Amino acid sequence: MGRHQFDYLCSQGLRPTDKLLDIGCGSLRAGVHLVPFLDANHYFGIDLVPELLQLGYEREICPLGLADRLDRATNLMATADFTIPFPDVLFDVALAQSLFSHLPINHLRLCLYKLRLRMKEGGMFYATFFIAPADLPYDRPFHQPPIGEIETYGWQDPYHYWQRDIDFAVEGLGWKILSVDDWKHPRGQKIARFAAV
Ligand SMILES: C[S@@+](CC[C@H](N)C(=O)[O-])C[C@H]1O[C@@H](n2cnc3c(N)ncnc32)[C@H](O)[C@@H]1O
Repeated sequence: MGRHQFDYLCSQGLRPTDKLLDIGCGSLRAGVHLVPFLDANHYFGIDLVPELLQLGYEREICPLGLADRLDRATNLMATADFTIPFPDVLFDVALAQSLFSHLPINHLRLCLYKLRLRMKEGGMFYATFFIAPADLPYDRPFHQPPIGEIETYGWQDPYHYWQRDIDFAVEGLGWKILSVDDWKHPRGQKIARFAAV
């Protein structure tokens, strides 16, 4: 999935000079591919769990000889409420892979609000979601294609969203939703493209 995220972002025109924020970056699955591509210290990551950041740095970044391209002290931070603790940095690109599949819509609203304050105008936010059919009753689980092995819910983890939930979530927060696309995620998550307007 790390390589898949990297390839997708490249297909969207990611440039080495971009500053990228990986929200819910975990143990740096995407980071190991993004850090060597982006200019030094242009990759930033936040996660709820500080141990994941530390393990990602020690076991992934350092053995690959990438420590001089990612400053552990300044570019990887633990936050619980989508605070972005990187003073004076404005981002070109933000990514949230398999984050909102574990969180309800009020977290998406909070994230969109705080992130918008730290994005460049025209910057892009890519976030993945399980999507439910528009006519699925709210109290029914949904078996996600392509294999249907994952059951998702409107009210508990793993969460699905209706497309109209995402349309609602951006309202008044300075984002435009451009599309929600298939991106060949192995468990059927879709990727939403938000532009900072
Ligand atoms: C399924 S993992 C995905 C990790 C990573 N994006 C990847 O592709 O490997 C979800 C991550 O989101 C983090 N997370 C959950 N709630 C969060 C929050 N409120 N703020 C930041 N990270 C959060 C979890 O700790 C976990 O590392």
